[in-house]
Amino acid sequence: MSWFRFLIQLCGLLLVTTCTTTTDSQSLLSRSFGPAQQGRRASDYHAESDRGMVVAAHPLASAAGAAMLSRGGNAIDAAVATSFVISVVRPQSTGLGGGGFMLYHDQARKRQRIFDFRERAPMKANATMFINDRGDYKNVFFNGQQVKDPAIVGHLSVAVPGLVKGLVEIHRELGKLKLNEVIAPAIDAASKGFPVYPSLAKEIKEREQWLQLYPGSRQIFFKDGKPLEAGQKLVQSDLAETLKLIAATGYRDFYEGETSKKIVSEIKKGGGVLDTTDLRSYRMIERVPVSSYYRGHRVVSMPPPSSGGVHIIEMLNMLEQKDLSKLHPRGATYLHYLAEVMRRAFADRAKEMGDPDFVDIPTHRLTSKAYAKNLAASIDPQKVTPSSTMGLSAPTGESPSTSHISVMDQWGNAVATTQTVNYSFGSCVVAVGTGVVLNDEMDDFTTKPGGSNAFGLVTGPKNDIAPGKTPLSSMSPTMILDKKGQVELVAGSPGGPRIINAVLQTITNVIDFKMSLLDAVHATRIHHQWMPDTLRYENNALDDDTKKRLTAIGHALTPIETVGDVQAISRDSSGMIHGVSDIRSDGKPATP
Ligand code: DON
Repeated sequence: MSWFRFLIQLCGLLLVTTCTTTTDSQSLLSRSFGPAQQGRRASDYHAESDRGMVVAAHPLASAAGAAMLSRGGNAIDAAVATSFVISVVRPQSTGLGGGGFMLYHDQARKRQRIFDFRERAPMKANATMFINDRGDYKNVFFNGQQVKDPAIVGHLSVAVPGLVKGLVEIHRELGKLKLNEVIAPAIDAASKGFPVYPSLAKEIKEREQWLQLYPGSRQIFFKDGKPLEAGQKLVQSDLAETLKLIAATGYRDFYEGETSKKIVSEIKKGGGVLDTTDLRSYRMIERVPVSSYYRGHRVVSMPPPSSGGVHIIEMLNMLEQKDLSKLHPRGATYLHYLAEVMRRAFADRAKEMGDPDFVDIPTHRLTSKAYAKNLAASIDPQKVTPSSTMGLSAPTGESPSTSHISVMDQWGNAVATTQTVNYSFGSCVVAVGTGVVLNDEMDDFTTKPGGSNAFGLVTGPKNDIAPGKTPLSSMSPTMILDKKGQVELVAGSPGGPRIINAVLQTITNVIDFKMSLLDAVHATRIHHQWMPDTLRYENNALDDDTKKRLTAIGHALTPIETVGDVQAISRDSSGMIHGVSDIRSDGKPATP
């Protein structure tokens, strides 16, 4: 071959390689996902290091975690420090009044553990607590104003918070640093304050009606009677005091002391049912992860009471029936198959999922290869399977609540943790004198037979409210392990039901389409959740030809702003650790 031809071929090869690895993130950077992207560059979303990595949805939070790693702390120290800071800087997403799940990989023992510190229904809660004799939602009033949806807003929507107990107990067993060291950055952020960023300002404005109704919230998120705006400082002095009490007493004060009394007195003001006994008897639960293999990679994820891990495995098992590497990640053939896979998994979610401590969940069947093979065989490559032919359900919007944190330390230990107050600012109630935003996790139960929750999700009787029960979740902290048992991918996302599909697409982008982590996270996503029977797609996700082909075989297409906000870490074969924050939100990776 002549040198000239060789050079031409090399240029062609470089062009193809550059195109396949940068097209998605470039096209995404030129798109608007709203306020989160203002003034940010592509490099803000990616970092690499061989000493560890923390990825979270706010730079102050990831920096706090990285500082713990620099100080000799392990992945748990970093994850706990990051969690407490995220509780301060993303009150719209998560906080001390919420709960979450953590998947921990212990490299020395080659073992994964799951910690469930999600909220539970108070003992006085029951299946009909939100509905009247006619089966409609009850009228609830606060200060003379009607609270339109009492399962989403206000005191009745609050389930027993688990975040503080979970983080403190996990840290006590597995952390290396002192608790007051890992809480210090959060106390700092709460007492000194931080500038309100554009997406937080947008959210305060959107929830203005409810935040201003409750005095504890009005005091924090408003200045001179107006919602805080971008650039103004958010100082949370009461929250700083609550955090200091946690640093001093562990979880005792929060569940049995002054803070618990203030929370319960707040709940009573609005006719809620949570009481001191609920807080005192809150228990974190250690669970066994769900796991499987996808094209030789071990997938480990969150078991019930999350539906996430089960459905990610169920969907991967269906996807494994096809050689996806031969398909184009934005082409109609793949996207149709993917949407059909999602439809089938979400139909199962509505029918089968709930709290495994209260109802039987067929986890083994749903995650088995044989079951997936049968389901996949029912996919017609030329035609959609209408959801109405398949059973119960329905999600709508995505709220900016919930937050995911991924961590890896220098020893190869890793943490994936997703935490939430459920909807934006949870119940919108802050317990006066604590700075704690209380969750509205009761809405993740079936609050009305046949009704749907804030995300349009319909669940069945298995997810009915019962005292002490955990509401069904979609949160999916997930890891992929290589053949040596080392973690090669850590990922998770907020987004209600979209969480599951955001994590799924990150995995297939990495494993099947061999994208870099940056491209895998930034690539456009689709979402199908069985009901409503529509294929949602992010802006730019589908070109005109693909839209035409998908419509021709029966898909109803709906454009949506975003599917998830993935915070992910990968470790390549040279041992280099990559951290990527989703371009869709405010995150930033940090290194020790
Ligand atoms: O546990 C769940 O599935 C929901 N409470 C999560 C809510 C959520 O992700 C809100 N999203 N942006």
